[in-house]
Amino acid sequence: MEVVITDAAGALAADTIEALVRARPDAVLGLATGSSPLPIYQELIARHRAGTGPSYDAVRCFTLDEYVGLPAGHPESYRETILRELTDDLGIARERVQSPDPTPDGLPTAGARYEAAIEAAGGVDLQVLGIGSDGHLAFNEPGSSLASATRMKTLTAQTREDNARFFDSVDDVPHHVLTQGLGTILRAGHLVMIASGPGKAAAVAAAVEGPVSATCPASVLQLHPHATVLLDDAAASGL
Ligand code: GLP
Repeated sequence: MEVVITDAAGALAADTIEALVRARPDAVLGLATGSSPLPIYQELIARHRAGTGPSYDAVRCFTLDEYVGLPAGHPESYRETILRELTDDLGIARERVQSPDPTPDGLPTAGARYEAAIEAAGGVDLQVLGIGSDGHLAFNEPGSSLASATRMKTLTAQTREDNARFFDSVDDVPHHVLTQGLGTILRAGHLVMIASGPGKAAAVAAAVEGPVSATCPASVLQLHPHATVLLDDAAASGL
């Protein structure tokens, strides 16, 4: 695992993503939502607008996870979020951005269909990741199987509180989600995890220096042959 402590994480990750897309215009990107990846996305958009970025026309994208139970098109659904915060601005056609299907009819088969779609695309080349304050990865809460596939999960009270800032109140945060599994994430070619702020320090320390354990799902990064962890000073303060 490569750990980089930097105040330029967004630019560094953007360099890596751009290099991949230049080398492979039809690259498959795995995209995380949340606050952590925003510096990466803002950097990619700024460069694209400045005309210095690659063409993203042939890129395909898969989101990491999705809420279950939000009305279709809800602005805080992760599909709407990633369209708004990244892919629309990069000019990536919406049909090239896939996310797990949280509709009542689709739910029973959503996990298997998502796994099949990722496989049919040739797998994720580069997966952007954040980390939850409890060490969760995507929505794989502590206790998740390290070999898990895309499936429905129940959020912990801590994660619902952490994500309440995106909703009117914590009561509006869904209890259930669909998430890529830890096994799914481990199959991506390159994992790029970004974390900032003191609230992530303990989770980062457990993920990077603790035992590989379902107690800290993000510790699976230690099992991956090509994982990059980008931290600011505060997020690295527990190392
Ligand atoms: C959310 C998402 C994760 C994200 C994490 C951290 O619940 N499901 O994919 O990485 O929590 O979020 P943030 O970056 O906003 O701190």
